[in-house]
Amino acid sequence: MADNDIKGRIMELREIMKAADNGDYASDQEKGLPQPPLAKEKVSDHVISLTSNFENIIKNNNFLNLLNTRTSKRKYIDGALTLEELAFLLWATQGVKKVIGKQKKATMRTVPSAGARHPFETYLIVNRVDGLEAGLYHYLALEHELEFLGPIENQAEQVTGAYCGQAFFGTAAAGFVWTVFPYRSEWRYNDEAQKYALIDVGHVCQNLYFASESIGCGTCGIGAYDQFLADGLLGLDSKPSFAEDNEFVVYAASVGKIEE
Ligand SMILES: Cc1cc2nc3c(=O)[nH]c(=O)nc-3n(C[C@H](O)[C@H](O)[C@H](O)COP(=O)(O)O)c2cc1C
Repeated sequence: MADNDIKGRIMELREIMKAADNGDYASDQEKGLPQPPLAKEKVSDHVISLTSNFENIIKNNNFLNLLNTRTSKRKYIDGALTLEELAFLLWATQGVKKVIGKQKKATMRTVPSAGARHPFETYLIVNRVDGLEAGLYHYLALEHELEFLGPIENQAEQVTGAYCGQAFFGTAAAGFVWTVFPYRSEWRYNDEAQKYALIDVGHVCQNLYFASESIGCGTCGIGAYDQFLADGLLGLDSKPSFAEDNEFVVYAASVGKIEE
């Protein structure tokens, strides 16, 4: 791309960082169009239930200490996560505390989200979690369950390749991958929704950082990936689309056990 073209493109993209003008056009919610689903539906019969009892998992609940020790950790020991630890990390990042409203429903979760839209889904690339076979999983946030979507061929190589050669992600005990359903937020917020979703997902990963630290694990947020390959690994189509079910990867993070 020529220098002027890239500068023009950068200026265009900067607009997403500003408050939207949101003048005189109604959102789909204001037009009375139906609300999209709160979460993606289960597609697999292979479902794993998860505990909500985390009392014996937390090793460090000193918040000041967690703030001081939090760093991005990319070196892990070989140990596996327990299923309880994984359940805790899923709940800490996207756990549903309650569903409110009779018609215009919303989920209240462990993280904030503009207008409680929570436009994300969580996928896990599992390498070493006690009791789980390696492969791809999807978190059913409303049920607090995991569904197994299947093995990934040559998992470490494929995942590392999709994430720009970052082998620590391909070989971590578990990789968290967050996808976005933009329409869940756009239904209410039109052209403000994209900025909100990107802010929202930062909160999700920040909770993963602190939750991981509190159970003797390390995490590293991952923004560098190949969109086509990362979407392909999850069986998603990354082509631009206005469709209500358009879903694509927006952020990821590695998790592993670290030296005590
Ligand atoms: C949005 C975002 C994307 C990131 N992407 C990557 C990445 O792809 N690879 C990586 O090794 N670290 C990544 N990081 C981690 C940063 O490099 C790290 O937060 C930064 O160097 C500061 O270090 P600290 O987290 O230890 O304080 C990312 C962090 C954020 C917040």
